[in-house]
Amino acid sequence: MRTSKEIRSTFIDFFRERDHKFVPSAPVVPVGDPTLLFTNAGMNQFKDIFLGLSKPDYTRAANSQKCIRVSGKHNDLEEVGIDTYHHTFFEMLGNWSFDDYFKAETIKWAWELLVDVYGIDPDKLWATVFAGDNKDGSKPDEEARELWTKITPIDAERVLACDKKDNFWEMGETGPCGPCSEIHIDLGPDRCDHKHIKGHKCEVNAGCARYIELWNLVFIQFNRQAGGELIKLPANYVDTGAGLERITAVMQDKSSNYDTDLFMPIIGAIAEMTGHKYTSQLGNKTDNALRVIADHIRSIVFAITDGITPGNEGRGYVIRRILRRAARFGRVLGAHEPFMYKLVDVLSDTMGDAFGEVKERAAFTATVIQAEEESFGRTLDRGLEIFAGAADRALESKDKTVSGEDAFALYDTFGFPLDLTELMARERELKVDTATFDDLMEQQRARGRAGQKAISTVDLSGVNLPQTDDSAKYDTDSCITKIVGWIDSEGFTGKGRLTEAAGDVGLILDSTCFYAESGGQVGDCGMIESAGGRGQFIVEITQKIADCIVHQGKLASGSISVGDEVTATVDKGREASRKNHTATHILQWALQDVLGEHVTQQGSLVSPDYLRFDFTWPKALTDGQLKQVQHLVHDKIAEKIPVSCAVMPIDAARGLGAMALFNEKYGDEVRVVAIGAGSESQLQQAFSREFCGGTHVDNTGQIGGFGIVREESISAGVRRITALTGQGLIDHLGKRSEVVDDLSELLKVPSEQIFERVQKLIADNKKLAKQLKSAAKQGGGDVVAEAGKLLEQAKKVGDVAIVTGRVSAAGVEQARAAIDSVKKKAKSAAVVLGFSEAGDKVTLLAGMTDDVVKKGVKAGDVIRQIAPIVDGGGGGRPQMAQAGGKNPAKLDEALAKAGELINEILAGS
Ligand code: SER
Repeated sequence: MRTSKEIRSTFIDFFRERDHKFVPSAPVVPVGDPTLLFTNAGMNQFKDIFLGLSKPDYTRAANSQKCIRVSGKHNDLEEVGIDTYHHTFFEMLGNWSFDDYFKAETIKWAWELLVDVYGIDPDKLWATVFAGDNKDGSKPDEEARELWTKITPIDAERVLACDKKDNFWEMGETGPCGPCSEIHIDLGPDRCDHKHIKGHKCEVNAGCARYIELWNLVFIQFNRQAGGELIKLPANYVDTGAGLERITAVMQDKSSNYDTDLFMPIIGAIAEMTGHKYTSQLGNKTDNALRVIADHIRSIVFAITDGITPGNEGRGYVIRRILRRAARFGRVLGAHEPFMYKLVDVLSDTMGDAFGEVKERAAFTATVIQAEEESFGRTLDRGLEIFAGAADRALESKDKTVSGEDAFALYDTFGFPLDLTELMARERELKVDTATFDDLMEQQRARGRAGQKAISTVDLSGVNLPQTDDSAKYDTDSCITKIVGWIDSEGFTGKGRLTEAAGDVGLILDSTCFYAESGGQVGDCGMIESAGGRGQFIVEITQKIADCIVHQGKLASGSISVGDEVTATVDKGREASRKNHTATHILQWALQDVLGEHVTQQGSLVSPDYLRFDFTWPKALTDGQLKQVQHLVHDKIAEKIPVSCAVMPIDAARGLGAMALFNEKYGDEVRVVAIGAGSESQLQQAFSREFCGGTHVDNTGQIGGFGIVREESISAGVRRITALTGQGLIDHLGKRSEVVDDLSELLKVPSEQIFERVQKLIADNKKLAKQLKSAAKQGGGDVVAEAGKLLEQAKKVGDVAIVTGRVSAAGVEQARAAIDSVKKKAKSAAVVLGFSEAGDKVTLLAGMTDDVVKKGVKAGDVIRQIAPIVDGGGGGRPQMAQAGGKNPAKLDEALAKAGELINEILAGS
């Protein structure tokens, strides 16, 4: 039996032998493509090549790409676990041609690999081609149909023409697309899982597990625009994708992908941990839960490995949702404690050879998963109870629907993602009122949106942006160049004149010395001026789109035209960014020195104002560790060490031990920044070597100081350090020193005594507060006297004195003491007192002796009835009650009303 490992490597070797370059899988988080949440196909990393925005130095590529399909156009979440061949995470084996071979070779090689190399029975294979579409006028792919019968021995009847839904592949709503030709396998009538569906007929694309798609050969020729229009691309491309899991199942003769060596070790581990046995049956609750968890853990581990931390937005929320879904299936298996984090080791053992990053980051990934499992575990059981109640109510309802309010409460209070609630509802054959849920969600979002700025995005798909030569960015802050065009809300223009009326635009130059945002370093700001000062353009941010540098900003005066010669000058912020960037590298080195080599960078931000460095570490750094890190950085600055950069082949850089970012995609050549090497030939001696395209100082002495201003946690297992250098640090310290001077003046002590002085002030303050409290208690004597007077004037009904009136109490305690004294003195009394503090608040208190309560006068009732008069509310026991109100003007009225009420009851008793 061939292992999945062999199947994967055979695929790659097959195409290597046919001159394909092995381009490693891109991370599951698409680099620089905001249109996609997750990498969902092998072609994603080549999108810019298809669109003509970038040109690789190879024309054929192959790999096994890590894909996640849980959102957007390609979403397989609902099918997972229920059938045998859909997954949220899977590997897509693929080969690509960039304006090189086309349909003939693609079909020939696919057949050859499946039949001759993998040994799949050719009589089981079917092919499909695009049938065309009458509505949009697209033509049938006759060429592909003929090629199938000409090149391969397949029978003409087994080449089917299928419609757009199955045979026109698109990456997403926009982007590269084209007709495709698929290879399906007939696994025999026993494998049909749709027998129970009336009218079902087993055939290609009919949805049952008998005919499974193995390989999709896409002939990319178009770019879908946002409005739906198809634009022909300048060249023809090939993009193929074959699911490793499905091919492995076929070759290992398994009726389910889950029974292959890709999943069985994971399923085995879960079964063992939870004390179950996997019986490989569909429709079985336990087996289903085992499959779902085995599927989900692969998405979770690969996503976290590639830099996603579970959170409340975007990609982070998708991963949180999947993890919570899996945790709930864990409950089905009786797992009440975190267990999924233990599966990271299984994945690292089975996948670590093909994807080394899983192994390298295993400890970190496990920490993150465990933390998530723990935090959801705290609310999961209670949430399940709440769901049970909501589901019972839904069962009684007419439309058998869980209310949107219940679904929202489950989401908001118990962390149940909507799809989890929907899933549980489906299990009980219930629906969920998602429309109301969405409304409640939108209301919550609207509340949270205040203050956020929208970033305008211009659709540039299909636009061939000019390439910018930005090689001067490392050497100079000012250069003479030419205007090539600009991007405005309409898109790109390469001719005409730009005036102030245009608003925000992205100016494109022939060459530039501006650094575009990348690798955590923010883009440069500055000025672009046309010769003779005819026009001045202020650059607010510089960004890179494919190989084009875009200087975003506004024309401040005059006008500029395409073709104008201009001087582009980066502002002073660049100098500060250089210092911060080199300091970030030294900081990483220092952290590894103090905490250990396994500390890895999770993210960074280098701006002119400050630097931020995120790294893996489970707990807060101690003061001692922070001081040590700071000292190490100081020493390296004081030593005035040279910084040098070199561009070299990636293997050479790795050979030097240069640190790379785990989630970055690198080309064949990389730039290495080394601190501690006087020249390129001395890179080996440098103490810090990192893959980095950023701008740096020449010598660490120029950094001129370093100070950590904050250390905090940003998510489970990830800490963030914020620090300052150079002028930023001087300004920060200057401000602090001013605060110290001000305090010193205010407290009238020298600065070194401020601490002691403030300590003393705090202690004094506490003492005074205590004294004030006890004085107030004593001061209560006046209030007692006032109440005594009220008692003397009180009206009597029988033996009962009705004592109502205002007192000048400073707090409830005093009024209460006064009531107690009246009750004691009078033996039988109904007392209602009121006072007003701070002018806008009133308090009412009532107290009754026991005999009065027996007669039916209850303090709580009286207070409840009179409180609304002073715009307030309150209540209490029959003996004692209290209310607060907001309308002091009505206090007397309320007290009079109390007297009447009491009188009435007593008179009637
Ligand atoms: N991009 C195509 C797919 O995802 C072929 O790889 O099916």
